[in-house]
Amino acid sequence: MKRTRICELLGIEYPIIQGGMTWIANAELAAAVSNAGGLGIISPNAVMRLEDDLMANLRSQIRTAKSLTDKPFGVNLVVQIPGIEELIGVVIEEGIKVVTTAAGNPAIYTPRLKEAGITVLHLVASVRQARGAERSGVDAVIAEGFEAGGHNGFDELPTLVLVPQVVDAVSIPVVAAGGIANARGFVAALALGAEGVQMGTRFVATHECVAHQSFKDGIVAATDTGTMVTGRRLAPTRGLKNEFLAKVAELDRQGATAEELLAFIGFAPSRIGQLEGKMEEGELYCGAIAGVINEIVSAGDVVRSIVEDYSRVVTSLK
Ligand SMILES: Cc1cc2nc3c(=O)[nH]c(=O)nc-3n(C[C@H](O)[C@H](O)[C@H](O)COP(=O)(O)O)c2cc1C
Repeated sequence: MKRTRICELLGIEYPIIQGGMTWIANAELAAAVSNAGGLGIISPNAVMRLEDDLMANLRSQIRTAKSLTDKPFGVNLVVQIPGIEELIGVVIEEGIKVVTTAAGNPAIYTPRLKEAGITVLHLVASVRQARGAERSGVDAVIAEGFEAGGHNGFDELPTLVLVPQVVDAVSIPVVAAGGIANARGFVAALALGAEGVQMGTRFVATHECVAHQSFKDGIVAATDTGTMVTGRRLAPTRGLKNEFLAKVAELDRQGATAEELLAFIGFAPSRIGQLEGKMEEGELYCGAIAGVINEIVSAGDVVRSIVEDYSRVVTSLK
């Protein structure tokens, strides 16, 4: 498989990243991806109960991952959340070498992370954001299309059009995210000029991911039309269709105010869905690519199958 600047930058064998995933990007998943030659990423709140301390949870997840792999792994920081300064402190103290940042302005935290010798990749959804991230000194951008599970950009740009435009606009390496789950998607991303991929949804449906079994089964059962985007006015988010999202969409159609929508959404609905497996009452972040995911496998096999199928896909194009 082609080695890219992302392999050199992150010290990994294959340019395949497991994206940060709120509540469910746990140490065991990250370690399995890293052990297979990709880059695993931990989310600070992985597995956490609401009464637990976020900093202690992140520290414990990092230490568990260290006990399971000698390979590099990273931490995902959503930079708008309360406590971000303290989270960065934990990441630095624990000697983490790679951080992916999402949401918010990369100019605020990148200098502190870089001073600590950390490689920073920032998630972007437009050319303007990518240029801003490059100016802020990040090492690479992750260009995430509207197909992706979880929070999406307001401009609704799909991966196929976003990635080549970001590639042309910046000189740092670009990682493609959104709608990639196998070797065909991987090769397509490289053809667009990306030097690596980040996948979320594919890694949820793995043995090592701490997501509830019902959520994993829901991804396997989903077809091409299994996801929807809600919250286009507040925070566009893609998830598995269920009663919860139907109600959010209905409130939106009725012209509910931001306060009314937030009152219905409540606190941490994605925890209720993704960790507790309440399939109709909770929120289940999921990408539109779920339709091609037909079985729950080990996270290492996700990486290995892309590596193995890569040449066959490339050859089929000749
Ligand atoms: C369940 C779930 C939770 C996610 N949570 C986060 C998050 O906390 N931070 C983040 O930067 N991205 C998050 N993402 C986005 C992923 O890191 C990744 O970029 C995205 O899933 C790629 O698109 P795909 O779902 O088509 O693979 C989440 C995605 C999923 C599916």
